[in-house]
Amino acid sequence: MLDSLSDKSKHIAIGAALGVFFTLSTTAIVLAAKGSNSKTSRHLDTHASANARRRSSISDSLSRMISLPKTEQENLIRDGVAGLIGNTPMVRIKSLSDATGCDILAKAEFLNPGGSTKDRVALSMINTAERDHILTPGNGSTIFEGTVGSTGISLAMMAKARGYSAWIVMPDDVALEKSQLLEKLGAHVEKVRPVSIVDKNQFVNLAKRRAQEFGKDDQEGGSSSEDPKKTGFFADQFENLANFEAHFTTTGPEIYKQTQGNVDAIVMGAGTGGTLAGVTKYLKARIPNLKAYLVDPQGSGLFNKVKYNIMYSPTEKEGKRKRHQVDTVVEGVGINRLTRNFAMSEGSIDDAFRVTDQEAVDMARYLVHKDGLFIGSSSAVNCVGAVRIARELGPGHTIVTLLCDSGHRHLTKFWNDEYLAKQGLDVKDVVDNLDFIV
Ligand SMILES: Cc1ncc(COP(=O)(O)O)c(C=O)c1O
Ligand SMILES: *[C@@H]1O[C@H](CO)[C@@H](O)[C@H](O)[C@H]1NC(C)=O
Repeated sequence: MLDSLSDKSKHIAIGAALGVFFTLSTTAIVLAAKGSNSKTSRHLDTHASANARRRSSISDSLSRMISLPKTEQENLIRDGVAGLIGNTPMVRIKSLSDATGCDILAKAEFLNPGGSTKDRVALSMINTAERDHILTPGNGSTIFEGTVGSTGISLAMMAKARGYSAWIVMPDDVALEKSQLLEKLGAHVEKVRPVSIVDKNQFVNLAKRRAQEFGKDDQEGGSSSEDPKKTGFFADQFENLANFEAHFTTTGPEIYKQTQGNVDAIVMGAGTGGTLAGVTKYLKARIPNLKAYLVDPQGSGLFNKVKYNIMYSPTEKEGKRKRHQVDTVVEGVGINRLTRNFAMSEGSIDDAFRVTDQEAVDMARYLVHKDGLFIGSSSAVNCVGAVRIARELGPGHTIVTLLCDSGHRHLTKFWNDEYLAKQGLDVKDVVDNLDFIV
């Protein structure tokens, strides 16, 4: 029933689009015929009246669309910024598919309005808090989060759309464009030194404390007891299962629909683990032979967690630990603790692969050179993983991954040659083959 409805509305959408196109091209033909043997002034007159005709035919087409029944209309016009979240296209990556003999498909999550897959998570966490009466739209409450950027940007965007404030705590070494974007979106940004999760000033711990402290001053400051306290809501993407739910109820079903269930393997990295767990749980319940793989950047403990069931990373060894817990130029994936969202994937991840920073950097350059795809660091890790799995499974398989965000988010770090060279990485002008994946 749902399927036939959406098919029907697709036809209507195509019909309406063709209608506009047809009217425009007819006008263009008339214009061309009239314009060919007339003086410039007459030509301009014709041009103006043609434009007027064009405007009225466009508005005719629009009003036809708007008068469609509700369910059909929804597929044409999205409701506000939240309406732009999700339903992202799936792209077949030609270079990787040609090179491996597999279909390498990627969900184009960078096309979400906030620029990443985290829009789904922000929307889900806010919807859940509103449902549970923790937040009410437009009442001046503040959403707090500790994040390396993407989730903060999505939360700041959705906070504005729903009438909240946003307060984002982030490590001070995150790509500069992320904090700039947050400020432009009206969020309060608090940058802290990157420290271990056991430290009370670690960015996630600090965000939680800030949320708890929020509004307390108001009360003590003698506001009358009838005045409702402003809520400080700690979104908590790592532990909040509304994150898992977002992917279980949207990303997973979309992948299933777009591939008609023809998927042999899914592969991706994990930060909170919400995407991997949500997508895997949904798809494995419907595709019996599906394999699910984790790809993990250097320094992350998840690889060992999946392979040997112990959370351990070589960089954690005493004396070897560098400044960061997860020492990588990749942002958003890799972690050294077990989160509730990652734990939701328990028992459903088949294997794990490590991806080096050098492989991620080379992959990002390869995809620009071959496909014109400009992607961020976690997406590059995912694509390295997709090629590994394709080689392991052999030609003829369909492998799905995610393009989490665009390269625009990473211009000062992952796409900054000088920065990469300082990290000891080899930055090539052009990468035109996949030999860098060993
Ligand atoms: C850019 C980017 N890619 C990938 C991820 C990982 O997704 P998840 O948190 O669902 O594991 C994140 C999340 O932190 C991210 O910010
Ligand atoms: C905002 O809404 C929340 C949830 O309903 C409520 O707890 C809080 O008191 C409200 N705050 C204000 C300032 O109205």
